[in-house]
This record gives sequence, C-alpha cells and structure tokens, in this order.
Amino acid sequence: MTVRRVTVPGLMAMKREGRKIVAVTAYDFTFARLLDQAGVDLLLVGDSLGMVVQGHETTLPVTLDEMIYHTRAVARGTARALVVCDLPFGSYHEGPESAMASSVRALKESGCHAVKLEGGEAMAATVRFLVERGVPVIGHVGLTPQSVHAFGGFRVQGRDEAAARRITADAESLAEAGAGAVVLEGIPAPLATTISARLPIPTIGIGAGPGCDGQVLVLYDLLGLYEGVKPRFVKEFMPGGAQVRQAVGDYAAAVREGTFPGAEHSFNS
Ligand code: KIV
Repeated sequence: MTVRRVTVPGLMAMKREGRKIVAVTAYDFTFARLLDQAGVDLLLVGDSLGMVVQGHETTLPVTLDEMIYHTRAVARGTARALVVCDLPFGSYHEGPESAMASSVRALKESGCHAVKLEGGEAMAATVRFLVERGVPVIGHVGLTPQSVHAFGGFRVQGRDEAAARRITADAESLAEAGAGAVVLEGIPAPLATTISARLPIPTIGIGAGPGCDGQVLVLYDLLGLYEGVKPRFVKEFMPGGAQVRQAVGDYAAAVREGTFPGAEHSFNS
C-alpha cells in the first residue's frame, strides 16, 4: 500500500480542518521508523541533538554536516512523516545566500522535505528568499535556543506586553514571508493562543500551551530518557531512563550468572 507523505501544504490543510499536528524530534533511523509507524505527522531533526545526543550544554556547537548525517538516517526510516532538518547556528546567519547554500545542502544530501530556522522579523527576508526559490521553511520564535546566551539562559519569553508584541510581530512577519508553519517555544499559553488565531499558517507549540495548531516534544524528554534539566512543559510519557537501566541491569546480571546466552541464542554448528 502506498502511504501518502505529509507535506508542508498538508500542514496548512490540517490547520484549516482543525486537525492537530503531532510533531516529535528524531535523530536516527530506528526511532524514526517507530515514530513514523506510530503516526507522527512531522519528524523534526532538531539541533537539540547537540544536547540530548552529543551531551553539550546548548545547541550551539552543532554543525551542518552533523545535521545532515542525522537527518539522512531519519529520512531513511520514514514513509509518511514530513522530515524537517533544523539549520544549526551559524549556517544561515550571514544572509539569504548563506541560508540558501545550507538549505540546498540539507535538501540534496539529507532527504529532508523542509528546513527550520530560528528568528522572527530579522529572518523574514531570508525566509522569503528561500521560499521564493522552492525551499519549504518552518520558522521558530519565542525561546529560540540558539539565542540562549542573549536571553541569559533558557527563559520563558514574551511575559511583558512589549515582548509579547514583538513575538507576535515576529510570527506574523514569518507568515508574510511564506513560512509553512512556525514553532512557538517557551511563551505564555494565552499569547500562543492569540498568535495561533491570528496566523494563517499553523503554529506548533513547545512550552506554549494547548492553543497551538500542533505540538512538538523532544523525543528523549517524551520517553523519559534525558536526565538533564526538565522544563515544566515536558511530560514524560514513559519512565524510559528507569526502564533502560532495568533492562541493561537484567542483561548484565544474566551475563555474569551465565544464563545468557542460552542454547536458543547459540549456533551449534
Ligand atoms: O532543536 C529542537 O529540537 C527544536 C524543537 C525543540 C522545537 O528546535
């Protein structure tokens, strides 16, 4: 049976029809296949891999080569989900041409279907440049992790009126520039609800409350595997860390006791 791939225009249709967009981050083939089979609409190969896969304190050290490597693995694991490659810090900041060069590499070398970049009004001209040249772009405003040092930490954004107005203008400028959707991260829920109602394009929230057109979570947070700082907006849908420790502990005990491997796991000739 041929499975129809979720597309960026398809996300728009989901908003029109009031169907929530389900997005999760993914970084490798095996998880991508499981998430695709579970019916996730959008797999974001986030530069959060710098923290949850590579163990850095921020997303800043991640390179475009690393993003392409992980996205290629994720894309191979999917049949239905839209695969989005995050453009890492420094790979699109010099201007539209540098963003185009990075996007061309991402699309040609990784098999992704769209790119994501952080920033609002300051990035609108870049988004327009990419979209006019056939690159589907997802925007990202609010608590944009690549600006962590400018924010002085991972802090909720848009709490006062001026900041809320700025974030609204950021999201609107991305929609006007042709972005296919925008991630709203780490902003008050009422602000995200207002922005979602004003924008003609879907919003995908993380730490932005229930009023967005979709939600995204970092896979290792959702599975309870990441044991770094746990923001309030994270819900662990399974105690993955405890389960992995238990399973590996059981394996270690079986090896030490000599009960694994058994005859059924061995070749006799
Ligand atoms: O890098 C990432 O995983 C992200 C999501 C948290 C939206 O940008």
